[in-house]
Amino acid sequence: MTQSALDRARQYQDELVDIRRDIHAHPELGLEEYRTADLVAQKLEEWGIEVHRGVGKTGVVGVLRNGNGQDAVGLRADMDALPILEASGLPYASQNPGRMHACGHDGHTTMLLGAAKYLAETRNFNGTVNFIFQPAEEGVGGALEMLKDGLFERFPCNAVYGMHNRPGMPVGHFLTGPGARAAGGAFFDIVITGKGAHGAHPSQSIDPVLVACHLGTALQSIVSRNVSAADTAVLSITRIQSGDAYNVIPQSAVMAGTVRTMKAEIMTMIETNMRRLATSVAAGFGAEASVDFRVIFAPMVNNDAEFEAYADAAAALVGEDAVRRDAPPGMGSEDFSFMMEQVPGAHINLGNGDSAALHNHLYDFNDEAIPYGVALYGAIVEKRLPKTEL
Ligand code: NI
Repeated sequence: MTQSALDRARQYQDELVDIRRDIHAHPELGLEEYRTADLVAQKLEEWGIEVHRGVGKTGVVGVLRNGNGQDAVGLRADMDALPILEASGLPYASQNPGRMHACGHDGHTTMLLGAAKYLAETRNFNGTVNFIFQPAEEGVGGALEMLKDGLFERFPCNAVYGMHNRPGMPVGHFLTGPGARAAGGAFFDIVITGKGAHGAHPSQSIDPVLVACHLGTALQSIVSRNVSAADTAVLSITRIQSGDAYNVIPQSAVMAGTVRTMKAEIMTMIETNMRRLATSVAAGFGAEASVDFRVIFAPMVNNDAEFEAYADAAAALVGEDAVRRDAPPGMGSEDFSFMMEQVPGAHINLGNGDSAALHNHLYDFNDEAIPYGVALYGAIVEKRLPKTEL
């Protein structure tokens, strides 16, 4: 059955390669994916799939029901391009100068379309499949936009699955792992307000520069003293700005930086401790501090059951030898994490062969990988929504 999923996916190859190269030639940045969304909606409608536009601005959700099953699976792909000038010289290279599909989201969108066609034709499942075409994965907050628009209230899912191509791994190979897969990231700004004075009369001041020096040291105690040695976290102060003159003690100082963690609760703990240290260290000197702490990416954590099911489905397609199940997590981020915080899910990498690196101006998604992504999406739906289970 699963081998035939791959065979069937291969029958779509010419049509899907045309779609992939069309999207590649017309890249659009996050929340501007109007043409791409039009193309996605048009194809879904062509294949008889219910289409919902404007979920998270330019996001599209396709809904396919079969049988009387109450369970639902979400399959998610990203649609946005990057602000890069393409140098591939390919016949289907970007026609929008300064914009490029350099992360393979053109391929991801195409594979999810292929899965929609496959499932609409074969209907070898019982339940609902929600095809989630997400805008703006590259740091512009597309997943959160869809969630704010009620993605999982309007299209409930029991499980969600995502996929990203991986340069340097052979086509037809998959890679995943249990637990954390990608780091969560936050940015922070701390404003310390003291009291400005003449540089020769510090007793008339509350010196925010001195507060910033103490606070910088104090903040480095969080990872070394509050985070368990068994966990991972990074806290980097990357900017301290204050003052304009040799003889003026400034009124305020600003500190900024980034925090990375593999667990959401550790990110929360670091934020709490940062706020406490900032306000209390500042108060100790008679100054005040305000903290703006923004979580940009949640850590992406595979749910155990979904991880096993996804890896098993991949192994059934390509053989156990072509599936790596124990890959360590990376410090990069992926905003599918926000969806996986709300619904149990799993994420897998798909081999892109010997291509240029992601976000490189020579990168190109490997069309030979398309049938593997299509077949795995189809196979995981057939596995999680079996037709025999009523
Ligand atoms: Ni990407």
